[in-house]
Amino acid sequence: MIRSKIIFFFILISACGFAQSYDNDLLSSQFHKGRREAIRNGLPDSSCAVFFSNPEQQRAGDTKFLYHQDPDFYYLSGLNEPNSLLIIFKEPQTFYDTITTNELIFVQDRNPSQESWTGKLLGKEGVKQQLGFKYVFLNNQFADFKIDFEKFYKVYHLDYFDAAHDDLNDRGDLASLIRHFKLKTDYKRKNVDGFNLSGLMASLREVKQPEELVLMRKAIDISCLAHAELMRALIPGMAEYQAQAIAEYIFKKEGSEYVAYPSIVGAGENSCILHYETNRKKMDGGDLMVIDAGAEYHGYAADITRTLPVNGVFSPEEKAIYEIVLEAQEAGIKACRAGAEFRATHKAAVAVVQKRLLELGIIKDPNDFMLYFFHGTSHYLGLNVHDAGNYGKLSPGNIITVEPGIYIPAGSNCDPKWWNIGIRIEDDVLITTGDPDVLSGKLPKKIADIEALMKEESVFNKIK
Ligand code: GLY
Ligand code: MN
Ligand code: MN
Repeated sequence: MIRSKIIFFFILISACGFAQSYDNDLLSSQFHKGRREAIRNGLPDSSCAVFFSNPEQQRAGDTKFLYHQDPDFYYLSGLNEPNSLLIIFKEPQTFYDTITTNELIFVQDRNPSQESWTGKLLGKEGVKQQLGFKYVFLNNQFADFKIDFEKFYKVYHLDYFDAAHDDLNDRGDLASLIRHFKLKTDYKRKNVDGFNLSGLMASLREVKQPEELVLMRKAIDISCLAHAELMRALIPGMAEYQAQAIAEYIFKKEGSEYVAYPSIVGAGENSCILHYETNRKKMDGGDLMVIDAGAEYHGYAADITRTLPVNGVFSPEEKAIYEIVLEAQEAGIKACRAGAEFRATHKAAVAVVQKRLLELGIIKDPNDFMLYFFHGTSHYLGLNVHDAGNYGKLSPGNIITVEPGIYIPAGSNCDPKWWNIGIRIEDDVLITTGDPDVLSGKLPKKIADIEALMKEESVFNKIK
C-alpha cells in the first residue's frame, strides 16, 4: 500500500514536472468551449458555421514560416495545427444514426516520421483529451462524411484560402477540405453565406474574456519591458536593426513566441514612414527614432509605439511636435469610455493636432492637418494586431490602441526646421465601466521621463 502510494506520488510529481516544462498558461479548453457556445447562440435556427484552419506558408524553397493559426479557428478550438476543419451547428445533428453532436472537428493524423522532423501533432486523441472535443475525425474522412448541408437554412463560412497548396496524395489537406466543402454545398449555394459570419465573430472577439485579458496583459507587459530596455540602451551610432534586436531579445526572453507584426524602427527620415520595416539605417545623434513594436504571447498581440531622441535629449523643435502628439494622445485616451463612438478617439486627437499645428504655423488651413497626420487613431487589438471588431460603440472589455502621430518629411511645405520629424505615441487601452485602463501605461512617455530613463545604463551596451 505504502509502496503504491510512493509510486503514485512519483508519477504525479513527474507529471507536474513535465507540465511545468512547457507553457501551462494557454487558454483553457473550457474557454474555447464557451466561445463555441457563444457563437452557437448567435447563429439563427437551423444553421451551421464552417471554419477552416490557416494554410502553411512557404517562405523560400522548402522553408516555411512558423505556422500561425487562423485567429477565429484558434479562438473557437485552441488547435494550432493546419489542415483542419471545424463545424458548429446551431442544434444537435445525428450522423450515421449513432453520433449526435452540435460540433464536429476534422484534424490531421499523427505521423511519426513527420513528427521526428517537425514535432508532435495532437491527432484525434490529443484533440479529444487536450481540447475537449467529443467527436473528432481525421481530415481525410471529410470527403466521404455524410453531411447534408442543403437542409440548413444557412451554412456560414469565412473567406477561404482558395490558393492553398493541394497535395494530390492527401485527401485531407486544406485544399481538399475546401474543395469537398464546395462540392457538398454546390447545389444550393443560395443557403451558403460567406459574408455575415465575420461580423458575428467580430462581435465576440471585440469583447475580451477574463482569460484573454491575462494573456493580453502579459503580451503588453513584455513589450513595455522591451521598450524600456531600449530606452536605456539607445546610443548614437547604433543601427535601427540593433535597436530592433534589443526589443525582440526581450520579447523572446520573456516567452513571447513571435513579434505581433514586423517591428518598425525608423530614425531620421525613416521616422516619417508609417510602416517602415527594413530597419537598416545607422542612426545619427540628431535623429529621432520611432519604434513601433509589440510582442505576441500565446497568440495575443501588443502594439506599442514610442519616439526617442537617439542622443537622449529632444531638440526644441522635436519637443514642440512631441508635446502636440502627447496632448492628442491623452485627449484620445480620455475619449476611451464605454458608450462612446469608436471614432471618438480620432476626433479628440485630430482636434488637438489641428489647433496646435495652426498655432505653430506649420499649417494655414485646418484641413491641412491631414498632410501630417494621415492615419486613424485607434484599432482593436487581440489575436490580430488589427483585431476583429465592429467599430460601433466602445464597450467594456474592448482593447483598442490610441496612436496619433505627426510626420513631417523633408520637402514639406513648412519651415525646414520641422523636416524629418516623425512622432507617434501608441498605447493599448482597456475600455471599462469607468475610467480607461491604459495597459501599457507603465512605459514612460513624458519627455522628462524618457530623457531620465535614457540616462540609465543598459547591459546591452556592455556587449562587445
Ligand atoms: N503597428 C501597427 C499599428 O500600429 O497599427
Ligand atoms: Mn496600432
Ligand atoms: Mn503600432
